[in-house]
Amino acid sequence: MIFDSSDKRIAVVGDIHGFWTWVDTEYFSKSNYDSVIFTGDLGNNLPGNTNKIAQWISKVRKPKYIILGNHDTTSIPQLLMEITNASPNMGYLSHTFHLLRYKILLKKLGDTNICQYNLSDAGKGLSILGARPLSMGARFNFPIFLKSVFGISSYQESEKKLHELIRDIDFQKQDLLVLAHNGPSGLGAKAHDIWGCDFKKEEGDFGDKDLGDFIQTIVKQGKKPKVVIAGHMHHSSRKLRVKTRVWKKKEQDILYLNPARVPRIFSDKQGNIWHHHVELTRKNGVWDAEAKYLKNGVEEIFPLPEFLEREKNRIEMKD
Ligand SMILES: [Fe+2]
Ligand SMILES: [Fe+2]
Repeated sequence: MIFDSSDKRIAVVGDIHGFWTWVDTEYFSKSNYDSVIFTGDLGNNLPGNTNKIAQWISKVRKPKYIILGNHDTTSIPQLLMEITNASPNMGYLSHTFHLLRYKILLKKLGDTNICQYNLSDAGKGLSILGARPLSMGARFNFPIFLKSVFGISSYQESEKKLHELIRDIDFQKQDLLVLAHNGPSGLGAKAHDIWGCDFKKEEGDFGDKDLGDFIQTIVKQGKKPKVVIAGHMHHSSRKLRVKTRVWKKKEQDILYLNPARVPRIFSDKQGNIWHHHVELTRKNGVWDAEAKYLKNGVEEIFPLPEFLEREKNRIEMKD
């Protein structure tokens, strides 16, 4: 087989957090995207909202790939336990309910490909590696759940599993895209960095160590992923010490994307409604991405308001 470098056009939707409407379902279904990738965090914390969004996603008439975020399938007490690093042993009963919510969510997602410690075929010449689901940084999150569903209980085991999954890929024939919920460590320690910590005074690198070490190891072995996509660290918030986070970064010839523009649906001062996503393309074998903003449900060429123009260009490209 010859390397298939056919052009690709993939839509990437960052953390949803309740911001999805029928406009999105119709737009992506009728678009000429080959597929749609989601970074998770579907709901807005209201009961049932995650499942409702999952159902909307399942109705998109394209191949779909998703990684579950720390807000998907987990309860508010569980999230609090993770944030405060309370003993996971407390959570036995909550684990039973967790598994139940997980089962229901998978059902609601219908034919969506769930990317989590697995490799998905995404058309000729492209594989998607699903990394550790439910990640929220700082530590190995939700260990009881990860142990029971995937048999993985530490950063080390997690990294080992990722290596096993890509062992048989022929990198001469296949491009590798990595999909995670939180990004890898090693990409900067400032609050505005692509996965930098924005809620502590001392800032810091908030990327995941298992994913970061995995990527650095395979780069040394000549098995470089072409694209790494993750969200979790949102582009901006009131608490943020930075106005706008870097959302696209090229380093060691790897394209890193953080499409988590939250909220992804918002209005401007004139009352226009905007919907955000990222267009990921492979043209003549070269991967690149561009932020896209639908205005009142329509995609067209128009000058963007200044704040969006600034956001769109918040990138770091070194070669
Ligand atoms: Fe998240
Ligand atoms: Fe999020």
